[in-house]
Amino acid sequence: MMQALEARGAEVVGLSRSADGLDITKETSVTQTMGSLLGPFDLIFVATGALTVNGSAPEKSIGALSADALRDQFEVNAIGPALVLQHALRLLAKDGRTVIAVLSARVGSIGDNRIGGWHAYRASKAALNQLVHGAAIELKRTHKQAVCVSLHPGTVATEFTAKYAGRHTTVPASEAAQNLLSVIDGLTPRQSGGFYDYAGETVPW
Ligand SMILES: NC(=O)c1ccc[n+]([C@@H]2O[C@H](COP(=O)([O-])OP(=O)(O)OC[C@H]3O[C@@H](n4cnc5c(N)ncnc54)[C@H](OP(=O)(O)O)[C@@H]3O)[C@@H](O)[C@H]2O)c1
Repeated sequence: MMQALEARGAEVVGLSRSADGLDITKETSVTQTMGSLLGPFDLIFVATGALTVNGSAPEKSIGALSADALRDQFEVNAIGPALVLQHALRLLAKDGRTVIAVLSARVGSIGDNRIGGWHAYRASKAALNQLVHGAAIELKRTHKQAVCVSLHPGTVATEFTAKYAGRHTTVPASEAAQNLLSVIDGLTPRQSGGFYDYAGETVPW
């Protein structure tokens, strides 16, 4: 996403755990790093997430659930992005069309879940979607032209999917980034608070 935005001539501030020490599961880390930013930003894009945390692979059944794995998933996929959202609202430009986009996952859709499994990851993304939806409602009060959404990137060839993509066709990260930027470009403030896939189609909650 950074490369795709820079190729458009955008000035991008990228933050990561490896380069900046930003650990989204640690509130003080988020407060320090995000608190040091001035903005205002036209686009805030949250690209973090994990399917395997602390070695716990996605569960095949509810019987395989563990409290630790659930907690870990919620910390990375829901609580972390929510802490970033807290600061994002302050850092977003007030004038003109602005966007906050957070990478979620179609498997976090309750309506689309037909096979079970992957409980902690699914539930953490469903929680994330609720947080993004709620933030979007509040954002509208101060930023009339803002768009705040959850996005499903498709099945993308990253470390994340290396073990699990299986029979699914993957797209390279560069292609996924272009798809997501096209979706972001096309979203209107009326669509704020929604959950969209890489083609701009609404994903059921
Ligand atoms: N790839 C797919 O097919 C796919 C499909 C649906 C949804 N998604 C979603 O898309 C997002 C990105 O996935 P990806 O495929 O790009 O995965 P990835 O290559 O594993 O990248 C995930 C990124 O999140 C960062 N991260 C993880 N835990 C963190 C923490 N506690 N603090 C700060 N950064 C942390 C990682 O940083 P480090 O480098 O420091 O570990 C890494 O840069 C995720 O939210 C995922 O759920 C991906």
